[in-house]
Amino acid sequence: MRDGKRPDGTLIRPPMPIPVYRQLSDNDAAAIAVYLKSLKPVRNKVGEAHYTVPLPPSYGAPVVHVPEPPRDDKAAYGAYLAGPVGHCVLCHTPPGGGKPFDMNLAYHGGRELPDFGHPGALTVSRNITAGSEHGIGDWSDAQIKRAITQGICADGTRLAATMPFAAYARMRPGDLDAIVAFLRTLKPAETR
Ligand code: HEC
Repeated sequence: MRDGKRPDGTLIRPPMPIPVYRQLSDNDAAAIAVYLKSLKPVRNKVGEAHYTVPLPPSYGAPVVHVPEPPRDDKAAYGAYLAGPVGHCVLCHTPPGGGKPFDMNLAYHGGRELPDFGHPGALTVSRNITAGSEHGIGDWSDAQIKRAITQGICADGTRLAATMPFAAYARMRPGDLDAIVAFLRTLKPAETR
């Protein structure tokens, strides 16, 4: 997960977001490994993958130690949850500058994604920075939490199922608070 390498040393392709998972803390990465190893083995013939994204030479030096996130700093902990753990950043950051993710535009929205509720259709992630005209800066904490856990916007409309609210519905209240605190620190972006 953190080095992007299989046991035989070959690299895993970029759709697997290794640069983000490199920041997973030692304990969280270990917990995910324990969970995966607990899954009952199945035989499932998966198709051949055909990629157009070039394989990088490597994802960087092997990850040796990533400390646990600072839980007493709410916004910093929220940044960790919205990044490598909850990966809000992956869907809510557009590609740009020849890269699959333009991190200068992190959380600006505008990434085209398949609409999981309507096969064949596309949806576009939204700007979740703290802007009042285009972002979610004017939403109350409760409205932001409802969007994350129920897929309902401030105006009551429903979000596409691509926004994984069903998975986030079981998030701990303290973790939700931390994500909201982090989103409120994001410099307003003018994108819609
Ligand atoms: C798999 C992709 C994906 C992930 C992961 C994801 N989102 Fe979204 N999100 C979307 C899409 C797509 C939309 C817009 C859907 C639509 O327009 O119907 C959206 C919409 C939203 C909205 C509504 C904004 C508005 O203006 O209406 C909020 C708030 C939001 N996401 C927050 C988050 C947070 C916080 C996380 C992480 C905890 C997250 N999202 C993770 C895809 C994602």
